[in-house]
Amino acid sequence: LRAPFAIVGAGKVGTALARLLARAGWEFVGAGSRSIDSARAACATAGSGTATTQPAEVTRAAHLVLITTPDDAIAGVCAAIVAENGVRAGAIVAHCSGALGSDVLAPARAAGASVGSMHPLQTFPTAEQALASLPGSFYAIEGDPEAVALLRDVVDALGGRPLAISAEGKPLYHAAAVLSNNYLVALQHAAVELMGAAGISRADALPALMPLIRGSIAALDEVGLPGCLTGPISRGDRDTVRRHLDAIAAHAPDLLALYKTLGRHAVEVALAKGTLAPPAAGELRDMLA
Ligand SMILES: NC(=O)c1ccc[n+]([C@@H]2O[C@H](COP(=O)([O-])OP(=O)(O)OC[C@H]3O[C@@H](n4cnc5c(N)ncnc54)[C@H](OP(=O)(O)O)[C@@H]3O)[C@@H](O)[C@H]2O)c1
Repeated sequence: LRAPFAIVGAGKVGTALARLLARAGWEFVGAGSRSIDSARAACATAGSGTATTQPAEVTRAAHLVLITTPDDAIAGVCAAIVAENGVRAGAIVAHCSGALGSDVLAPARAAGASVGSMHPLQTFPTAEQALASLPGSFYAIEGDPEAVALLRDVVDALGGRPLAISAEGKPLYHAAAVLSNNYLVALQHAAVELMGAAGISRADALPALMPLIRGSIAALDEVGLPGCLTGPISRGDRDTVRRHLDAIAAHAPDLLALYKTLGRHAVEVALAKGTLAPPAAGELRDMLA
């Protein structure tokens, strides 16, 4: 089903969804946002739709309402469009947050809509990046059955892949996404700092690490977990790990706890891989405690 749809919150995700769905032949009713400029920009990008700062004006005519505001605004925006008679009975109202469940859309359900959530498991630092990477991403979907059915059609139209989740599972699921993406960034920042302590300039450090990062990601993809783990913990090289700990303690003590915490987890991965013998694992755990 290609339903007439509206977006509320004309930011990176909302604007990209409007354009991609409109291109796939879904009727774009329009964009409601806090600022008229954002709403107009979304309609210009989509090539159709009415721009407004009164979201109920466009959601009222939509069968599918996608709330794409920041997470903290979703519940309030939903309540406001319901209060303005902006949700038709039988409509589908959904948001794109990773951590929140569809229960935050309770006012829309009370107004006769089916509610759901559809979270793209992807990072969008810019609207252009959202346009490029929404297709092909996985989308965690949960909610009322009618909402889930239509959201699966949305994901299909976007060229994405659905991932079923429960509302209760979403905080853990989103914590996993943060570990996988945001903490990967934080980890590379820490690696650049350690390189700096070793006398390699910041300007040189990230470009030098990039082929290693790409190699790690290719190995994750091709070999998988836990087989792609390499390095001293995987091999059980206790002396090498001891040298790391001494050097970090002396020159970058702020990073010692991070190194140890991830090292303890790497011990578990190495045990699962089968390359680390239990006695060596015990010694490493003590060193990294
Ligand atoms: N960015 C990502 O990497 C990413 C990834 C997955 C999921 N998501 C989810 O997608 C949703 C949107 O994220 P985003 O990154 O697209 O955010 P964003 O670029 O900051 O856009 C949010 C838009 O919401 C509008 N807005 C804020 N408060 C509003 C209100 N009270 N009423 C109407 N509009 C309001 C703002 O519009 P104005 O410009 O008009 O002020 C802003 O443009 C969030 O739920 C987020 O968790 C984001």
